[in-house]
Amino acid sequence: MSKLDIVVAGNPVLRLQAEEVKKIDKKLHRLLKDMAETMYAADGVGLAAPQVGVSKRIVVIDVGEGLIEMINPVIVKKEGSVIGGEGCLSVPDYEGEVERAEYVECEFTDRSGKRMLLQTDGLLAIAVQHELDHLDGVLFIDKAKSIMPKQKEKIVE
Ligand code: NI
Repeated sequence: MSKLDIVVAGNPVLRLQAEEVKKIDKKLHRLLKDMAETMYAADGVGLAAPQVGVSKRIVVIDVGEGLIEMINPVIVKKEGSVIGGEGCLSVPDYEGEVERAEYVECEFTDRSGKRMLLQTDGLLAIAVQHELDHLDGVLFIDKAKSIMPKQKEKIVE
């Protein structure tokens, strides 16, 4: 496994429509592992392939409930709405308030090629929507109702 470089806003790869994955092979399995390692090393809850410079429809997510690897994910149902704080490993200096669906159903292919259905709400639903946006060249700053510089930890004397 190896850690990958995360690209930041301004890099054109983040604005592309990512390509559908056609073949699940060893190379793809290695990319999934490397993406997970990169996400964990950066303390992120999700990472999309365009964020490591690969314009393919792949995301990894772990909001503390275990790793989910998604190939060619599609949101097939959305319900409700919720506003919450978001950040992004590709927009390291800012955070913002974004409106998302409260509940989503997402179809995706897993690493063995099986089509799966994830039904979720809460933080995982928000992470799914945030990461899938990356596959369409959309960043949270495009949708945020407000954006502010990230609060740095204060040093207490
Ligand atoms: Ni992001």
